[in-house]
Amino acid sequence: MSEELTKINNSGDREKRWGETVGSYFEAADITNEEINFPAIVRGIGDIEGQTILDYGCGNGRFSRKIELMKAKRVIGVDREQSMIDLARKSNPDSQIEYHVNLEGTMAFLEDNSVDKVMANLVFMMSPTKEDMSQAFREVQRVLKENGIFVYLVTHSAFIEKGAPDYRNQFDEPFDYFAEEKPYRFILLDSQGKEINEKFYDYHYTLATYLNMAIQSGFTIVGVEEVGYNDSNVAERHKISQEFQKFPQSFMVVSKKLNASK
Ligand SMILES: C[S@@+](CC[C@H](N)C(=O)[O-])C[C@H]1O[C@@H](n2cnc3c(N)ncnc32)[C@H](O)[C@@H]1O
Repeated sequence: MSEELTKINNSGDREKRWGETVGSYFEAADITNEEINFPAIVRGIGDIEGQTILDYGCGNGRFSRKIELMKAKRVIGVDREQSMIDLARKSNPDSQIEYHVNLEGTMAFLEDNSVDKVMANLVFMMSPTKEDMSQAFREVQRVLKENGIFVYLVTHSAFIEKGAPDYRNQFDEPFDYFAEEKPYRFILLDSQGKEINEKFYDYHYTLATYLNMAIQSGFTIVGVEEVGYNDSNVAERHKISQEFQKFPQSFMVVSKKLNASK
């Protein structure tokens, strides 16, 4: 645990694990994930039908399920929180999705070069250290087939303080873009804009770190997208204020596993 989080926990304002905040998923407005992040991932990942797809950091499995319904051949959902995997299994009893917990960070249940595509929505801001994130990237690289696609989407680091219509981020100290592995409080908002007051912390990394993670783990970057509410249909449907239409909330990287022989 980082020094900052130890301080927070010792102050009696104990931070919660993501799995302990499960209930807030159901209260949260959650427009950003449904309306802008998931559609971006679908754009980034390309063909889904007939593919073996790993949803890394699948949470309650809602997007694994959508991918299954889009006719993927095999869907694997992985999360490091047992409570999330329990919830995912319970939520879709009719599904064929294979869910696993990767407690130690490894995915020993998956063979090398066995997956066509990997998606990871809002996962890597939860890495407390760069080493933790790097381990995840190495494992994703191991299980992907050569030329396999890895699409990951994170909160856009450059606009992290501005938040979104359905969440806000709070730093205890003045924001310093270059200070990495810094915990900040991630606060979900309900559809009335009211804070769902869970003590949950994410960590800040620069865009360069998010891009270099892929490059240093054996991927080539094939595309990036700054994802926001700039589609007027979405903005109108959800009455998104002008303020939130003028900057990207999320940052998506589309990468491809390099061919070992090159
Ligand atoms: C914000 S939630 C998003 C869940 C899901 N991707 C979605 O969009 O609904 C991030 C999830 O990633 C999981 N997670 C974070 N780091 C992880 C890691 N290194 N390996 C596996 N799961 C991880 C967390 O436990 C959490 O359930």
